[in-house]
Amino acid sequence: MLIVKIVFTCLLIGLGSAVLQSRSRQIFSCDDVLNKQIALEFNASQTYLSLSVKESWKEELGHAEKLIDYGVMRGAKVEVPALMKPDHSKWGEMSVCEVLELSLELEKKVNEHLHEIVKCANESKDIQLGSMIEDEFIDEQYETNKFLAELLTKIERNTMQLLQNGTQVSICDGYGLTLVDKELLKSN
Ligand SMILES: [Fe+2]
Repeated sequence: MLIVKIVFTCLLIGLGSAVLQSRSRQIFSCDDVLNKQIALEFNASQTYLSLSVKESWKEELGHAEKLIDYGVMRGAKVEVPALMKPDHSKWGEMSVCEVLELSLELEKKVNEHLHEIVKCANESKDIQLGSMIEDEFIDEQYETNKFLAELLTKIERNTMQLLQNGTQVSICDGYGLTLVDKELLKSN
């Protein structure tokens, strides 16, 4: 009798979970924006990897993983993104400021698209999705963008040089690199 009860309970739990998953699948309607965000996070990760920025590479990979787990949990049609190899032929010639500008542009795209997911969540009245993106991604993304923008401004100001014609230019030289190291150390 006990075995029958256990089997029956297991069947009920299994059935309940299947029904829950099937219902989740029905109400999740932001598959496309979720998949695009996963691709953007992977793309950011690849770019940081090619720039040898190890911490950011792993962080972006973690973001992609979190979104994949969430999509699977919600029954979304999660797709494996097709990734382009970053064009790193000019990395070696770039100044610190140019690398920071590139990172900032990358993060801005990621940030803009996070808001597309929130928009989709609002339109489809998916409160859970909207809250997850706002709580776990948007605040952190804002801090990242702010940090990069402030660091870029700081380096530009600290490496300013006066040219013979009287104009001031930022040279973003080796001193800039030392400053980046110190700031990154502080932020960790
Ligand atoms: Fe990210």
